[in-house]
Amino acid sequence: MTESKETAYDLVVFGATSFVGQILTRYLVETYGVGKSVKWAIAGRSESKLSTLKSELGDGGKNLPVILADASDLAALQTMCEQTRVIISTVGPYALYGEPLVQACVRVGTDYCDLTGEVQWIRKMVERYEEEAKSSGARIVHCCGFDSIPSDMGVWFLQNKAEETFGAPCRDVRMRVKVAKGEFSGGTVASMMNVAKEAAADPQLRKELANPFSICPPEHRSKTRQPSLKGAEFDKTFNAWLAPFVMGAINTRVLHRSNALQNARYGTEFTYDEAMMTGQGAKGRLTAYGITGGLAAFFTASALKPTRWLVEKFVPKPGEGPSPEAQKNGFYDLRFVGRTEDGKTLITKVTGDQDPGYGSTGKMLGEAGMCLAFDIPADQPGGFWTPASLLDGKLMERLTSKAGLTFEVVETR
Ligand SMILES: NC(=O)c1ccc[n+]([C@@H]2O[C@H](COP(=O)([O-])OP(=O)(O)OC[C@H]3O[C@@H](n4cnc5c(N)ncnc54)[C@H](OP(=O)(O)O)[C@@H]3O)[C@@H](O)[C@H]2O)c1
Repeated sequence: MTESKETAYDLVVFGATSFVGQILTRYLVETYGVGKSVKWAIAGRSESKLSTLKSELGDGGKNLPVILADASDLAALQTMCEQTRVIISTVGPYALYGEPLVQACVRVGTDYCDLTGEVQWIRKMVERYEEEAKSSGARIVHCCGFDSIPSDMGVWFLQNKAEETFGAPCRDVRMRVKVAKGEFSGGTVASMMNVAKEAAADPQLRKELANPFSICPPEHRSKTRQPSLKGAEFDKTFNAWLAPFVMGAINTRVLHRSNALQNARYGTEFTYDEAMMTGQGAKGRLTAYGITGGLAAFFTASALKPTRWLVEKFVPKPGEGPSPEAQKNGFYDLRFVGRTEDGKTLITKVTGDQDPGYGSTGKMLGEAGMCLAFDIPADQPGGFWTPASLLDGKLMERLTSKAGLTFEVVETR
């Protein structure tokens, strides 16, 4: 997409009625207004739901233009893409509903970003549409929410600091979630359950999901063994117990693709993993074992037909999620420990106000869309990018000045 392309809108939010889409729409109305310097519209399949959303936004939303399109209607999606320079999509699970929109963006040459964390689907999209995106100029950026912007931009920031301070990138980086106060929504749970279901039915997919380089270009699939925490473990750096972090399965893959698309800037032997800190002593240990067991039970029960109904009964339904109060009271604090090949250490942190999966995700996704629309030069080629490899410092500036994130160095030694 080029800035010179004449379109009615700079940006369209497809899926504005989703749980996260409503948060994002409110954020854009409050931050950028309607019909001012940013020309934008909301889109979805249901005229009545979109009109309810507009009325809930009060005066701010009343002049918001609306586009109707079903996620399975390629012609309608293409017409929508022709009217805008950027599409933000929250219509998920993406593996079920997302492909026609990616296809339409790629065909028309419209930039696109979303919230998918479904590695198997990203891989399929790259395989099917990368060549066409390169020739049409469409820049596609998946994973623009809590997975994977804080991890991807957090490592990008750490490596910049390592290059500045040590003159070399860190070969090994570990991300530890110190605090993540928030809940899952029905849409996210539906996406996670769909991955478990697809993987249970397909051994080849299980193999792909286990590969840390599964979404890297083939020539960048490093042989370096990657650490991967499978159970409870004690971490000496932070003097705390660790448990597996559920988003690590997607974030680690995005990180390796980011490294590849930046010409192995983090090194060809770069290693990365993620885990959650659960505290110290017996309580920390017990929590770490509890989380490990709980995650295994969730994925096993979601994968099997006889028990899937039981999981569905207790988890939030699509369209449900944390209350505005819970979003406001949410918070996260991620620590990154980087070590260079010659043993120098850098510790950084990334924080976000509001709950990670919704309040903060809505703002990050909105700013990723704005960054695509206004900050990325027209001559940046089309293709399947990652947040760090395409949006880099321009996105970081937006995240810190508008979206409530901080990035800072904690310690150098
Ligand atoms: N990366 C992250 O950090 C992160 C965070 C949060 C969410 N997510 C992901 O974002 C997605 C949305 O989550 P959510 O909780 O907001 O979901 P949700 O509330 O269940 O909303 C799903 C949306 O999809 C729309 N939709 C479904 N089928 C459609 C069709 N055929 N045509 C057009 N629209 C259709 C729904 O439209 P109607 O309103 O008309 O039913 C609704 O707007 C999920 O895939 C979730 O995993 C990721």
